[in-house]
Amino acid sequence: MKARLLAIAALLAVPVSLGLLLVLLGLVPIAASSGHWPAVAWFLNFVKRRAVSTQAARSVLPPLDAEWLVVKGAGHFESGCRPCHGSPEQRPPRIPQGMLPAPPDLAARVLEWQPQELFFIVQHGIKFTGMPAWPAAVRQDEVAAVVAFLRVLPGLDAPGYVRLSRGVVQPAGAGAALGELGGSAVPGPVLTSCSSCHGRDGSSRGSPAFPRLAGQTSDYLLAALDAYAAGMRPSGIMQPIAMALDAERRQAVSEYYSRQAAPSAVAQDTQPEALARGRSLAEAGLPDRRVPSCNDCHEPGSDDNDPRYPSLAGQWPEYLVLQLELFEAKTRGGSDHAHLMDPVRGLTAAERSDVANFYAAAGRAR
Ligand code: HEC
Ligand code: HEC
Ligand code: HEC
Repeated sequence: MKARLLAIAALLAVPVSLGLLLVLLGLVPIAASSGHWPAVAWFLNFVKRRAVSTQAARSVLPPLDAEWLVVKGAGHFESGCRPCHGSPEQRPPRIPQGMLPAPPDLAARVLEWQPQELFFIVQHGIKFTGMPAWPAAVRQDEVAAVVAFLRVLPGLDAPGYVRLSRGVVQPAGAGAALGELGGSAVPGPVLTSCSSCHGRDGSSRGSPAFPRLAGQTSDYLLAALDAYAAGMRPSGIMQPIAMALDAERRQAVSEYYSRQAAPSAVAQDTQPEALARGRSLAEAGLPDRRVPSCNDCHEPGSDDNDPRYPSLAGQWPEYLVLQLELFEAKTRGGSDHAHLMDPVRGLTAAERSDVANFYAAAGRAR
């Protein structure tokens, strides 16, 4: 018995020492240009599929059907995924194709994965490939938006993709011709980045996927951009964008959007009773539960209102509800003033929705 074990150990020692020798001599083939042997490529792919399948089984997905979730994912796909994977509008770019493994054209791949497997891949990335993890680990709601988009990706042609990811296509040369809008010069980053999601006029191209920025004070917009850039407000979508702007550009885009016409009320069919409940919460808070009146800080002109506090009027109710959920989960972050929202916890889902609908139905006063 002992002799047999020794023989097996000796047999195993041969490939292990050969492998170690290759490593020590520096002969392991690490050049991406040399590709994989077919058997190695098959094995690595098998490992990836088995690992994702097992480890994704624990993910619990939120509902992915809302149209605005798809639009939000599409907006991010264009800036965050297309540069490696390509899109229905553009084949995978040449340089990342030199990676091993190369980022695949996802339209052809996503149907091979279950939604919770896609969720796992986008949330965590894949080791030893160039597939990155989501930049803000706590924002699983954003990962869900990307998965919602990936599910419709295989059915999109180029115009359908452009419509979802950037809204209407701007005519060629529009940047130069529209250097002026409402009498104010449009800063470069608005044309090249912000407008594809927030619109050039800050109305967020008619979709609750993105907050309306128009008519918000420039102090608040700047504080929000600074918070994203400093990593104080987690968002895998906005952090990379804000980090790419220097302080001067953050100031310029904030001033630009604050000058755009404040949004009018969001059209909706909220029941009058629900609106009345929302109004009461906004105006009086919930004294027995120590929830303060929201208008104290959020209504322009009120005593405590400060230009660094956001205006909520005319904002999308879906966005307001999401931010309240993030505050509740202590994952919203924000500026040095974000702690003022600490007492606004413990609202029920119905209360969050009522107060959001109330503000959405009110036009912005500034
Ligand atoms: C820096 C380049 C890069 C970026 C950016 C990137 N990926 Fe990837 N992605 C990769 C690489 C490389 C792979 C691995 C391919 C493989 O294993 O065959 C991959 C794999 C994937 C896969 C698994 C595909 C399969 O069938 O194996 C999915 C799904 C995916 N990426 C989605 C995304 C999404 C969504 C985004 C944007 C949020 C994104 N990727 C951003 C490089 C990138
Ligand atoms: C890919 C889409 C996208 C692009 C491009 C984009 N944003 Fe955003 N922006 C978002 C989303 C989504 C949010 C909400 C993020 C969150 O939940 O914190 C947001 C939030 C913001 C906020 C916070 C608003 C508030 O009420 O707190 C500001 C300010 C902002 N963006 C400014 C900009 C500026 C300026 C640019 C261009 C430099 C830009 N964004 C580009 C998607 C985008
Ligand atoms: C004491 C002042 C104060 C009170 C009272 C207050 N808030 Fe706020 N709220 C803030 C500040 C400051 C921020 C911005 C935090 C940051 O991003 O730095 C904020 C942010 C928000 C946001 C996110 C807006 C956006 O554009 O991202 C929502 C939604 C919100 N508050 C809802 C409420 C509601 C609902 C109430 C009442 C139940 C309320 N707030 C009461 C100060 C207050």
